[in-house]
Amino acid sequence: MVELTLGIVKPDAVATGKTGEILRRYEAAGFRIRALKMVQLSKGDAQRFYAVHKERPFFSSLTDFMSSGPCVPVCLEGKNAVPRLRELMGATDPAKADEGTIRKDLAESIERNAVHGSDSPENARIELAFFFSGLETVS
Ligand code: CMP
Repeated sequence: MVELTLGIVKPDAVATGKTGEILRRYEAAGFRIRALKMVQLSKGDAQRFYAVHKERPFFSSLTDFMSSGPCVPVCLEGKNAVPRLRELMGATDPAKADEGTIRKDLAESIERNAVHGSDSPENARIELAFFFSGLETVS
């Protein structure tokens, strides 16, 4: 099934000049980019985006990191896009990620892990609406 998902090139990867390489990998894997922008989240924006993690011990540090510099949210379209993007990213902890995945090759740590990808089609819809209006998404 063709579906949409949200990818984010996180502030660590933007700051170290990996945005282009990550977008290249999305396209090389067959995803079509339907929307793309660069934004800097406020601490409050990051807290809203990651609200499901608010009880976790890393919530404060995660939201500091995600608001520390610009990030690049991307709307990606493809067959089974949600699980396929997660496969392309690799495990949350780059030390545990498979060879050839984005996080294995480009991420620094379990927190500064280069990319985000939605974990379900329902969350993809919510997360895409957080960053993009209908007007910003090409058909
Ligand atoms: P992401 O896929 O964006 O989803 C939640 C984020 O929280 C995750 O990537 C990491 O950036 C961060 N995260 C998850 N687990 C931990 C952890 N144990 N310690 C620090 N950060 C974490």
